[in-house]
Amino acid sequence: MPENKITIQQVRAKKEAGEKLCVLTAYDCTFAQLVDRAGVDIILVGDSLANTVLGLESTVPVTLEQMIHHATAVTRAAPNALVVVDMPFGSVQEGPQLAVSRAVRVFKETGVDAVKIEGGRRMAKVIAAVVEAGIPVMGHVGLMPQYRSMLGGLKVQGKELEAARLILDDARAVAEAGSFALVLEALPRQLARLITERVPIPTIGIGAGPECDGQILVLHDVLGLSGRSLKFTRQWADLAEETVKAVAAYRKEVLEGSFPGDKESFHMDESIIEKL
Ligand code: KIV
Repeated sequence: MPENKITIQQVRAKKEAGEKLCVLTAYDCTFAQLVDRAGVDIILVGDSLANTVLGLESTVPVTLEQMIHHATAVTRAAPNALVVVDMPFGSVQEGPQLAVSRAVRVFKETGVDAVKIEGGRRMAKVIAAVVEAGIPVMGHVGLMPQYRSMLGGLKVQGKELEAARLILDDARAVAEAGSFALVLEALPRQLARLITERVPIPTIGIGAGPECDGQILVLHDVLGLSGRSLKFTRQWADLAEETVKAVAAYRKEVLEGSFPGDKESFHMDESIIEKL
């Protein structure tokens, strides 16, 4: 393990020390390298690559092979951050035994440090089995995009008493199953705060308010590359605009013949050309 690699023990210790965790997604080596350099604690190779990279509307069709392909590129480029990969829908739903063999394959082939599994109580046995096999697991409760049909769409969860109780039970079950951290997605901040107080593992919020132990966002939203504006996020750059400007300038110079110039050209002895 590289010397500066963040460990799951350090991640857990940050909760005890009251230090915030900063988590961001990345899906390829270029961005993984930059995100790692910027000092985030954890990089998630999220199945949100369905939307950001593959142009799909939902995360459900993403395959294990696609996750392995992207996670391998990320681990090559991130020597410092803990790298976690999403187990896609269908890879862990057939019970603990098959889930373990898929998680083992992902772990061996990608070099990630942990896997993420969406699902609360219904995934507790699966999470326990994967952890027992020696693979750290990050949980994910609240809004779980893989279960969008069951949840009635991508909307804030747990606003009513019974729903809030079930999400608290989910969070406890995932922590008791041995997860080292827990994503809380799209929850009222009061519920996320209560879960953060009641579970012993770090909570990482996305649309779950400021009282979580850490925050996670989708890289493309942070950089202004996703073209969407969401209540729970902020945009720290406008790379879409910068990219269009740069490409348009390149195109203009190609069309007018000013690129490439002599400075961007390779040279050889003219006398050789004359002999040809
Ligand atoms: O797939 C993903 O990017 C995620 C985060 C948004 C939590 O699950």
